[in-house]
Amino acid sequence: MTQRLGVNVDHVATLRQARKTTYPDPVTAAALAELAGAGQITVHLREDRRHIQERDLRVLRETVQTLLNLEMAASPEMVKAAYEHKPDVVTLVPERREELTTEGGLDVSSQKDLVARTVKTLKDGDIVVSLFIDPDLDQVKAAHRISADRIELHTGRYCEARSEKERLRELARIVDAAKAATKLGLGCAAGHGLNYENVRPIARIGEIDELNIGHAIVARAVLVGFERAVREMAELLRSP
Ligand code: PXP
Repeated sequence: MTQRLGVNVDHVATLRQARKTTYPDPVTAAALAELAGAGQITVHLREDRRHIQERDLRVLRETVQTLLNLEMAASPEMVKAAYEHKPDVVTLVPERREELTTEGGLDVSSQKDLVARTVKTLKDGDIVVSLFIDPDLDQVKAAHRISADRIELHTGRYCEARSEKERLRELARIVDAAKAATKLGLGCAAGHGLNYENVRPIARIGEIDELNIGHAIVARAVLVGFERAVREMAELLRSP
């Protein structure tokens, strides 16, 4: 089964916000991504609005033809935004203002009450809820206990591994976590730091049904165009 490619268009908005212009528009990038084979558009509405704006979410909700996945913190402000814009999926992520990007997975166990409450509220609004967690069996079990629909495994440590031994160890953690999630009936995605060189071993994991990839695709798109960048990644997922 080919994994769904979720294209994260945040960094198109990063470029726009650098000059506070109206271009490049992440909405246009999302349409091109879908034409090139994306099965989902992913955006992260951050508390500091450093890239995606509420306007983007509103227009994407009207225009995305596949699935719209909103990454957000488990906060009342974001739950309100989710209820207003009704994405197909919400992925709860940890968020710190000073971080460059989402640096680790959500610690579900230590914030159980808040995360459980947020999951329930979103599910009550007919939104599928995924939790972005480290590939750790305890986190997978905790996600299941609080009735999340899905998890997304953080692939950052695999992508940043300095040696082959470390890379294989991180890959094994991802495989184990994906298998455990599937056994518990959780849908399983993965993402963060994936690029054209390191994606294949993750794309071969049968228990993972979706990859969310942003930085590498947008970076390639600057040089070769958005459609080609997405098509080349989609091709890697089709024949890993
Ligand atoms: N998945 C999640 C939950 C993320 O927070 C991010 C980064 O915004 C990604 C996937 C995409 O990561 P990258 O931009 O490194 O491909």
